[in-house]
Amino acid sequence: MLHLRKAMRFHGKKSHLLFLNPARMKATKKVITLDEFIFQKEKDFPFATGELSGLLRDIAFAAKIVNREVNKAGLVDILGTTGLNNVTGDDVKKLDIFANEQFISALQVSGECCGVASEEMEDFLPISTEASKNAKYVVTLDPLDGSSNIDVNVAIGTIFSIYRRQSFFGPCTPEDFLQKGSRQVAAGYIIYGSSTMMVYTTGNGVNGFTLDPSIGEFCLSHPDIKMPETGKIYSVNQGNFLKFEQPVKEYITYCQSEDKATNRPYSLRYIGSLVGDIHRNLLYGGIFMYPATKSAMKGKLRLMYECFPMAFIVEQAGGRASDGHRRVLDMEATELHQRSPIFMGSKQMVERVEDYVRQSKVTEVIPSSSSTVPV
Ligand code: AHG
Ligand code: MN
Ligand code: MN
Repeated sequence: MLHLRKAMRFHGKKSHLLFLNPARMKATKKVITLDEFIFQKEKDFPFATGELSGLLRDIAFAAKIVNREVNKAGLVDILGTTGLNNVTGDDVKKLDIFANEQFISALQVSGECCGVASEEMEDFLPISTEASKNAKYVVTLDPLDGSSNIDVNVAIGTIFSIYRRQSFFGPCTPEDFLQKGSRQVAAGYIIYGSSTMMVYTTGNGVNGFTLDPSIGEFCLSHPDIKMPETGKIYSVNQGNFLKFEQPVKEYITYCQSEDKATNRPYSLRYIGSLVGDIHRNLLYGGIFMYPATKSAMKGKLRLMYECFPMAFIVEQAGGRASDGHRRVLDMEATELHQRSPIFMGSKQMVERVEDYVRQSKVTEVIPSSSSTVPV
């Protein structure tokens, strides 16, 4: 204070230092960290044991380490293919393997998870330590999503989902993983983008946390995310257009057609990282599609690692996720690496593409000269 007075005398006038007047200092908003948020939510459930909270914290911790490496990706010799393919035949980058190892080791020491299945591993990994083998949760992971974008500095991500095991105790079994999408207890993603965020749901809305790298904490920045009921963005690999089935082609043509009342034509935005494409559409509204093609009748995206968790998040934000015929979360996984066509995003947009698919079935059964395609 003495220094302050001296400085004011020195300048001999009402000084720019006046902003230090405590009466003028405004209280800033309280920052809620991810850990605090998880702790607060746990208190809402009197019988919570803290295991799910612990798992979420462990995933967030591994994400910070992966984030550190992703940020250095342009600097260190970690880029390029390893010459291996993952179990679904795609190129594997070294950073995929690094991310896989980080998440798995965080889960192995957590004691709250009895097994992990990952896009990067052929089979699930039981965690059979004394602390973990009777734990009640299993986790599925896409450790690095959008990996073809690593080398070009475009947003990539991690996707996870958590299920309660079906078996009662001992080493986990395939049935613990092969469950209905609607049985997810929690799901989330981390986006390593212009800033790094963790977005997750435990079935009670969706919340987003931005990493403040200076303090190493995820801070609540996007509370209770709600997706607009409709939007102006469609996201699809348009290069595959000729390979799509007729109703999907017709829906895409609908998106491109001019109509002021419905804000068409929509804008095409496609990053090629599911996490990035969904994150943008979640905030702005829009539809993401990865339909079946003639050469890939089940589409490309993996049910357990990509479709289920993203469908859970999208629904919890008020959107819809469908394989074109039915709600994705009503589907049951029969294989760990199973693929599924997917349409997800703003509710009204997904319902419309489902209408196109439904109508095309009707016209297949009852051939008609007049068009039954909805407008
Ligand atoms: P991954 O990097 O985990 O294999 O996932 C890539 C996925 C997904 O992120 C994205 O939506 C899609 O592949 C893009 O596929 P296309 O290049 O065929 O459009
Ligand atoms: Mn992926
Ligand atoms: Mn991946």
